[in-house]
Amino acid sequence: MTGKTALITGSTAGIGMETARGLAKLGASVILVGIDHTQAQQAAQDIRTSAGHDRVSAFAADLTSLHGLLQLGSQIAERYNALDVLVNNVGMNRPRRELTADGVEKMFAAHVLTPFTLTHLLLPQLKSAGHARVVNLTGGIPGGPIEHDNLLGERRFIGWTFSHYNHTKTMTMALTARLARELQGTGVTANVVYPGHGYTPMNRSTPITAFPKLYRPVAPLVLKVVAPLFLSDLTRSARSSVYLAATPEVEGLTGAYFDDKCRRKPLPASALDERNQSAVWNLCVRLSTDALTSTQA
Ligand SMILES: NC(=O)c1ccc[n+]([C@@H]2O[C@H](COP(=O)([O-])OP(=O)(O)OC[C@H]3O[C@@H](n4cnc5c(N)ncnc54)[C@H](OP(=O)(O)O)[C@@H]3O)[C@@H](O)[C@H]2O)c1
Repeated sequence: MTGKTALITGSTAGIGMETARGLAKLGASVILVGIDHTQAQQAAQDIRTSAGHDRVSAFAADLTSLHGLLQLGSQIAERYNALDVLVNNVGMNRPRRELTADGVEKMFAAHVLTPFTLTHLLLPQLKSAGHARVVNLTGGIPGGPIEHDNLLGERRFIGWTFSHYNHTKTMTMALTARLARELQGTGVTANVVYPGHGYTPMNRSTPITAFPKLYRPVAPLVLKVVAPLFLSDLTRSARSSVYLAATPEVEGLTGAYFDDKCRRKPLPASALDERNQSAVWNLCVRLSTDALTSTQA
């Protein structure tokens, strides 16, 4: 990856930070983005030390706000002509419905609208790279139905078999499939990856109420005992993102889904359904139009 540049969102902790470390160790210049400036600088220093080079830069932005995305997009455009890899890693699990500064449900913003908007904002740099790769992260138990009247969790948010986290991650998959089609002919590919479970800040702070009711009795045991024992090795959780971002084996491949062991798997039917893809895509277009047009003005 020497000579290549990769931007990883949500990379000041957890799986994103290990993805950045993995790519930096392969020789890439990496760009970290987190919400907190000090944490971003500390993460960058940590990665410089383990990668043995200083091609690591750090930016702070609220990635769930369109204003934050616009600011980040213009800072990147000022400093970088080309971007070889964009890993849309930032994610969160919320126990109740919360809105961003733009009035968008937060998990939809982080998992769907942000990958859509950032990819479009950085498209000139991605195209300039020649053969750039966009890697999006799914998670939870994706593959359930995509509810057109509930994309923003406005009708129901969490239930026995339905969690809005899973819902938004299925939408990430549908978005990726559509994005891959839209990017045909640009030289930019878009794929989606399941990282596997990792004992990260997100998981450590997951409140019991974020679990579907069925699992709540065993959730404390899982969070406090089982997860730290088995899920602490985050290099394992980052390996599929690193693989999709770096390996020559997937050069030119687009619209594909890989699991946590770097194996290609079929996308679930709900993500392949073009009506679902359009519902997700059209909502992203509507919610991001103001931000995107203001950059072109
Ligand atoms: N962990 C798992 O078991 C698991 C399983 C499947 C899928 N995933 C997916 O993998 C991805 C990474 O998860 P993770 O567990 O590593 O998450 P994490 O530990 O919570 O890390 C998230 C990163 O995003 C940053 N961040 C959070 N909100 C932000 C915002 N509004 N703007 C900018 N940066 C923000 C955090 O910064 P701060 O630390 O400063 O808040 C942190 O660097 C997510 O998409 C997640 O859904 C995770």
